[in-house]
Formats: sequence, structure tokens, C-alpha cells
Amino acid sequence: MIFITRRETFSASHRLYNPQLSEARNLELFDKCANPNGHGHNYVLEVTVAGEPQEETGYVIDMKRLKDIIRRELISKVDHKHLNHDVDFLKDVIPTSENIAKAFWNVLKDKLGDAHLHSIRLQETENNSVEYRG
Ligand code: NI
Repeated sequence: MIFITRRETFSASHRLYNPQLSEARNLELFDKCANPNGHGHNYVLEVTVAGEPQEETGYVIDMKRLKDIIRRELISKVDHKHLNHDVDFLKDVIPTSENIAKAFWNVLKDKLGDAHLHSIRLQETENNSVEYRG
């Protein structure tokens, strides 16, 4: 089994806020991440695909194809957007890294042909990242 990874970056804003809860509880849970007008991050996304090299090409997946799919399905939808308001597949979720990674997985999982989606790794800051494996 070979694992191959494509890295992409995007910039987006978000606000961590649960509308079911009181202002006080939101502040307690999310502190300054609940600021009404949001704040931004420079995200790093790593998509890892697993498979065996194909006989004809020697590729698990053509990296250019993988790049094009990630950019079309994910990056173009989130780059320079407000994740709470602008992204259809993040509607009604709190846009934590955890939830963004899960949503990215659900968007990508059926779009890779024979290659198998292995993980979505999302880095929100230099020190914080999450990884989702379905
Ligand atoms: Ni944040």
C-alpha cells in the first residue's frame, strides 16, 4: 500500500459559536474565538490517498488530477471565505478544525476514482492540527 499526500493552503475566517447556547456559555466555551465578527486563519490542508500503483501509469493517482480535484471541490469553496456563512457543505456546523476536516472528507470521498481516501489533515495554526480518517 502506498500513501501519497497533496498539500494545499487556504485562508478563511470563522467564528466558533453555538447558537443553541447562551452568550455566556459561548464565551465560556470559545472565549475570543466567539468574537462576533470572527477571525482568520491560514490553513494548511493535507489530503492523503492510499492505493497500489496502477500497471499502466505507475501512479496510485495522478497528482495533477488529485490537485485539480482538491482545488475544485474544496479550496475554491473555502479560500477567502467566511466558513460560517459562505460554504454550503459547512452550513449548520460549528467550523472547528474537526468539523471542517470531516466535511472535507465527505466532499472528497467519492470523487477519487479507484484511489482510496486515507486521511484529511488540517492545520489551523503552527501548533494545532487535526487528522480525520473516516
Ligand atoms: Ni479560529
